[in-house]
Amino acid sequence: MKLKKSVKITLMLLSIILLILLTLLLSNKINKNQKKGGVQKLTIEEKLKRKCKKLNYCYSNNLERYINYQKKNTNLKIEDIIIRVNLNLDNSFYTNTKETPFLNKEYILVNKYLSLGEDYIPENLEEIPTIYARSGMMLVDVAKDAFIKMAQKAKEENHPVLAMSSYRSYDYQTNLYKRYVANDGVEAADTYSARAGFSEHQTGLCVDVYDGKIDYTNFETSESFQWMQENAHKYGFILRFPKGKEHITGYQYESWHYRYVGVKIATYIHEHNITFEEYYAKFIEPKYQN
Ligand code: DAL
Ligand code: ZN
Repeated sequence: MKLKKSVKITLMLLSIILLILLTLLLSNKINKNQKKGGVQKLTIEEKLKRKCKKLNYCYSNNLERYINYQKKNTNLKIEDIIIRVNLNLDNSFYTNTKETPFLNKEYILVNKYLSLGEDYIPENLEEIPTIYARSGMMLVDVAKDAFIKMAQKAKEENHPVLAMSSYRSYDYQTNLYKRYVANDGVEAADTYSARAGFSEHQTGLCVDVYDGKIDYTNFETSESFQWMQENAHKYGFILRFPKGKEHITGYQYESWHYRYVGVKIATYIHEHNITFEEYYAKFIEPKYQN
């Protein structure tokens, strides 16, 4: 069938117009996308501000610190930038320190920024029975009860877990830290020992353990350590200074140091492979501070 010449011309014209329209539409879309991408890339500040409104652990008075920290840590997610600045990690350890809140609570955080007063002695300290500890070891009652249950089970399963250091007073920590500094110097001592007032041993909520045979510093090589890896959280304890998290905790890896935080918090930390610091900044601080 032959089309009339005039119909042919109309069809051709229509196709040309359609093509022009399509080209215009496409180029407009590309332009818009480019602009959008450009804006996002340029203003991380905007991104932070927007995100900040959605997170209850983002504080607008910290905005400038978040922005500065982001510039130095471009690989970090915005959430982590916020958490780390809230933890004061944009300041060197032992600077910008303050007294820690939530005294006598199982979610108290003590670290190189949050300290306890010289006179602070936790309430309800009780001695751990000597079948599960060296003599004279004390913990806050809830932590002691949980420790006993854990140690009982570990013993039943032939992986003994014994307490070799638990509550330490401010004065005790003063002497301990002094001794380490005398032996190794301040820089080295700071990687493994807390200064007085900055040790969570003063909370009565943590305990250094060993298996009754090998030195506690080699606890990692024991079967009891494996048992603790699988079970400690079920009793409310966490490995407080994990490997690879030194930049957050401020301390080198300690396979022997466990902190009581209660089963709910311990399980969350265990399952998400985070530090107590990160949990605290995300869930404790926004919930309890007024
Ligand atoms: N070894 C831990 C960090 C302390 O001294 O509290
Ligand atoms: Zn310890």
